[in-house]
Amino acid sequence: MMFAWRVFAGCAGFASILCTSPACAETVDPRIQHAMSSPVALENGSKAARFCANCHGATGNSTYDYIPNLAGQHPGYLLNQIKAFADGRRQDSFMSGLIKVLKEEDRFNMAIYYANQRVQAGKPPKPGLVAKGRQLYNQECKSCHGDTGYGGQNIARIAGQPPGYIVEALGKYQNGIKRHADPVMNSVARHLQISDISALANYITTMK
Ligand code: HEC
Ligand code: HEC
Repeated sequence: MMFAWRVFAGCAGFASILCTSPACAETVDPRIQHAMSSPVALENGSKAARFCANCHGATGNSTYDYIPNLAGQHPGYLLNQIKAFADGRRQDSFMSGLIKVLKEEDRFNMAIYYANQRVQAGKPPKPGLVAKGRQLYNQECKSCHGDTGYGGQNIARIAGQPPGYIVEALGKYQNGIKRHADPVMNSVARHLQISDISALANYITTMK
């Protein structure tokens, strides 16, 4: 728990230094900040998160290649995505329905629980592509997602994500499919080749 909190505090500082877009301004909600070290929020969050374990794993480390880890994400980012599923800005046939039936308090506590868990880095399916992926990451992604890939409140943590999820998400940004239509990522992804995406996915999953 202490480890995750240090990572979280580090992200907040980091993003405000490197990210110049106004969307990246980090004002961490004091309620979130307080709850991150509250044993009650963690306990309630871990109970509520049992609904999610089949897919996202008991500790937020996903059990499937196409499903994202939630462990170690910034709690503000998780809450924003949960809201986006609830109000239709982000769409997924399963997630959208599930989130709508959750109570506000459970949504909040789950985000606190997952943000406090540690990500396990993945194994690259094609280790030979890791070096190329690292180079591309440093050129194209680091300025926003950070050296470590930890992101922040408005930017996803991508370090350790399963390669299948990275490939799928980048493909959706390229095509501007609604459920992943983020204007910033759309323009980033548009000029990537399929071979770039594969290299990036092999590298990003190893980041921890
Ligand atoms: C049946 C499998 C399944 C279950 C159960 C499930 N999810 Fe998901 N979840 C997914 C998939 C698939 C995605 C990726 C959707 C997309 O690409 O938009 C996702 C995405 C997410 C994201 C966005 C993550 C990111 O990196 O942007 C959050 C947050 C999330 N789920 C929270 C939850 C919570 C909280 C629960 C439990 C209440 C839950 N999920 C249960 C399959 C599931
Ligand atoms: C200009 C800033 C910026 C750059 C550069 C950038 N990203 Fe992003 N990225 C974002 C933001 C902001 C989000 C969150 C978007 C959202 O909420 O839908 C994001 C989201 C993502 C996601 C979805 C994560 C999830 O959990 O759903 C992936 C995958 C991703 N980026 C990969 C990359 C890769 C790979 C690169 C380099 C090729 C890159 N990004 C470069 C800003 C950036």
